Amino acid sequence: MERKKYYITTPIYYPSGNWHIGHCYTTVICDALARFHKMLGEDVFFLTGTDEHGQKVEKEALKRNITPMEFINPLVAQLKDMWKLLDISYDRFIRTTDRDHEECVQKIYQKLYDSGDIYKSEYSGYYCTPCESMWTEAQLKDGKCPDCGRPVTLQKEESYFLRISKYAPRILKLYEDNPEFLQPKSRVNEMINNFLKPGLNDLCVSRTSVKWGVPLPFDKKHCAYVWIDALSNYISALGYLSEDDSLYKKYWAADLHLVGKEIVRFHAIVWPAILMALGLPLPKQIYGHGWLLINGDKLSKSKQDVVSVQLTDPYGLVKRYGADAVRYFLLREIPFGSDGEYTNERLLNRINSDLANDLGNLVSRTCAMIGQYFGGELPARGKEEGTDGELISLADGLFEKLKRAMDRLNAPEALSEIFALVSRANKYIDETTPWILAKDEDKRARLGAVLYNLAETVRICAVALKPFLTQAPEKILTALSFDASAGFETLAFGGLQAGVKVEKLAPLFPRIDVKKELAEVASLVTAEQAKKKEKQEEPKMETVTKEITIDDFDKVELKVGEVIACERVEKSDKLLHETVKIGEEIRSVVSGIAKHYTPEEMVGKKVIVVANLKPVKLRGVLSEGMILCAEDKDGNLSLISPEKPFESGGSVR
Ligand code: MSP
Repeated sequence: MERKKYYITTPIYYPSGNWHIGHCYTTVICDALARFHKMLGEDVFFLTGTDEHGQKVEKEALKRNITPMEFINPLVAQLKDMWKLLDISYDRFIRTTDRDHEECVQKIYQKLYDSGDIYKSEYSGYYCTPCESMWTEAQLKDGKCPDCGRPVTLQKEESYFLRISKYAPRILKLYEDNPEFLQPKSRVNEMINNFLKPGLNDLCVSRTSVKWGVPLPFDKKHCAYVWIDALSNYISALGYLSEDDSLYKKYWAADLHLVGKEIVRFHAIVWPAILMALGLPLPKQIYGHGWLLINGDKLSKSKQDVVSVQLTDPYGLVKRYGADAVRYFLLREIPFGSDGEYTNERLLNRINSDLANDLGNLVSRTCAMIGQYFGGELPARGKEEGTDGELISLADGLFEKLKRAMDRLNAPEALSEIFALVSRANKYIDETTPWILAKDEDKRARLGAVLYNLAETVRICAVALKPFLTQAPEKILTALSFDASAGFETLAFGGLQAGVKVEKLAPLFPRIDVKKELAEVASLVTAEQAKKKEKQEEPKMETVTKEITIDDFDKVELKVGEVIACERVEKSDKLLHETVKIGEEIRSVVSGIAKHYTPEEMVGKKVIVVANLKPVKLRGVLSEGMILCAEDKDGNLSLISPEKPFESGGSVR
């Protein structure tokens, strides 16, 4: 029988580099869901990646005098490291700079252009660079970006537009006919009241002012503007419109796009409109989760000035407490669909109470008692007595509850069901008092039965925890001599064989002294923040030094010259070699203008030459100066010349 498929995606991340615990939220939940569905025996494809084009990256790279790729690559590597640390089991990490993605985006634009869904017009709007978002005047809050509160700039340019207005009625109907399509329900009302009812504006989908993007196939002056490029990743990653589209055929439509609530409008309006225009099936569900708030703030990528003594750096957190603890916190603490506050104290309390006390103690007590009373050999399952039945039926019913919670994507509820069993088992130890049974030889069989029930409950908890925690369950199952790769099919009570070896385990989650730890973390974070602040101040210094004084300018010797001869530089399609007369002096100058001027056009022209540049050889030809040109945003050049007839040799000031 063909296995059920499950295609799940995270949004693709902006390479901000300022990674914090909030960034891990979507991806950790997706990972738990992907693992859960794999354990159900489904054929899972889990996609994540990075969203790398756009003005912000272009500007950041320019500021640092490096290429956009040089800027992005280390940030992408950091993100991948972060996912490795957190044991994220993705099947593909797509980058929007991947060749196959770029090719697919071009094909998608062409299709949408051919079908009339993309058309040319003029754009004017308010752009927030850090958020990469355009806003209409009405959307601004006090004249500033409604998302991050920063100043915006008015921009006007020729642009292509996606006709999403045309799809508004179909999108409304989609919400109506498919209540599952957009969850939680509150997001549907948001979309209808804030965007669909007031009337959808067509979406600007190209830029001429931004060069860091995919060029449009039908108008190379324009680059794809972030959202079509970004959203298409969900199908380009599967080979849509490529030679090999077998993954696309197998996995599309997505079963779930899990996204933060601030990007729901792109996923629940723009993405369906694109897919409708392309005539493709729609994803089965978009879920807009809430935010992890840190000091009451989203720790948004564009706000750098949040004062916080919370350790929010995922690398630091995983190093201190382990991946399981961080994953557990993210999956358990925040009610799914709502915002939740993150503090180090909450994290530490969760680690201590749930992981160290409840789970850790249950496991170590159970294994230790089997070691102590049965030489590390699992006793046989006895007949049921006392509260055995209660424990066993709770353990037996766990899978159903787990499945019900996870079908609603509710990891906190799923974990709470597992931990209810953990607590019940701890209570069972108190009820059965194995240490008292151990004193009475007549009760040996009963002691064995109690310990079997406990070991079996521990095993069931460990298997059930596998989608959520990636390290502890394996350690527990190995200690119980049980197959660590076990799936949910093993969840029925009674899976452990009597006589197998049970090992003692070192504490899985050592208890943390919260007060001491919080003090340590606070001083660590304060020191880090001071370091960061110092670093942030550096670029300012740089921009100050970029300004020059009049004395600096005076060092540049600019002269009027006349081009008296000109030829192409051999084996170069960019360079011209001019002979320039400056007063009585003759100079050899090489310029990169061959694509804009022919040698014939150059001869006789009066030009402005930087006359005191250190001579260099370009392609073996001596260049003793530089000819000045103006350049527009599309790279067109225009020679600078004296505005009226002028003798060569004159100075320019
Ligand atoms: N590049 C876009 C998505 C394009 S998808 C076609 C983007 N990237 S992002 O890097 O800003 O966000 C990536 C994910 O991280 C989003 O789901 C976002 O909601 C999530 N989070 C970032 N900060 C967050 C919190 N503080 N809390 C929870 N998740 C938040 O948006």
